[in-house]
Amino acid sequence: IKKIGVLTSGGDSPGMNAAIRSVVRTCAYHNIECIGIYRGYQGMIEGDFKEMGPRSVNNIVNKGGTILKSARSKEFMTKEGRQKAHQNLVSAGVDALVVIGGDGSFTGAEVFNEEYGFPVMGIPGTIDNDIFGTSHTLGYDTALNTVVECIDKIRDTASSHNRLFFVEVMGRDAGHIALNAGIGAGAEEILIPEEDLGLDRLLESLQKSKASGKSSSIVVVAEGEKMGKNVFQLKDYIEEHLPEYDIRVSVLGHMQRGGSPSCYDRVLASRLGVKAVESLLEGKTNFMVGVLADKIELTPLEQAIKGHSEIDRELLRVSDIMST
Ligand code: F6P
Repeated sequence: IKKIGVLTSGGDSPGMNAAIRSVVRTCAYHNIECIGIYRGYQGMIEGDFKEMGPRSVNNIVNKGGTILKSARSKEFMTKEGRQKAHQNLVSAGVDALVVIGGDGSFTGAEVFNEEYGFPVMGIPGTIDNDIFGTSHTLGYDTALNTVVECIDKIRDTASSHNRLFFVEVMGRDAGHIALNAGIGAGAEEILIPEEDLGLDRLLESLQKSKASGKSSSIVVVAEGEKMGKNVFQLKDYIEEHLPEYDIRVSVLGHMQRGGSPSCYDRVLASRLGVKAVESLLEGKTNFMVGVLADKIELTPLEQAIKGHSEIDRELLRVSDIMST
């Protein structure tokens, strides 16, 4: 392998820049050329490439977003799109790829590898933490800190006005952000797709909390929560059944995807970038590099995509006890 291409794809996440920097500098360290591919797979199809040396990634370790930009390419889902992308890589002399993204991006990498035998290595980059084979995805830790900071602020106003707040957080179909940030921010209840609390139990719990002397409360709701109601409908339902509550909704939205990465995400990005490049140089392909019990490990891409990143059910119990 003489030249490695690196791209970021799917929803951006804090730490992607630190990972790009790590891939570029590890290539330079091993005297391998590195090509940055803009806008994920879309840039691969359009040949939007730029040579990257160690100085082209100065001053980005602390920056949110991705300097290579990101996209969710529909064209790459077609055979024709992937063929164009392959031709572009071959004419640019790129002979291996590092893909920084989530499961959609890994699916693209796997199909590409299957069709062309092209060496690929994945680095998990998503705030959702929904990838099997890693305890942490890049950006997850930063997003948790962002959410906790926001809920701390909401708590101030909730307490001043004796209000109940429903705070919706991201995570797609996974409840990792809601569960962990909820405990960190001292939420009364945490509603996640992996555990159906049920509307009756929610009502009961809120009634109990009022009776126990709490004057304000925070309920964290994962966006993928499946009780059949969105966060606004949930508010209406509770208001109707517990009129004693004055309720507001706050949807945190895309602010959770931005901001300077935490130290944890920067260190993780640096470690994953080194391992991704060195694994390709050792002839490994079709894997994702991840962190398990603080060790950097390889997981076959197929497992990373299809496996389930389970939530820690003990955390649900901890949350219950904390809201006593
Ligand atoms: O996967 C990251 C994520 O932020 C999810 O939490 C959310 O469901 C989705 O992306 C939002 O996607 P978009 O940025 O396309 O609105």
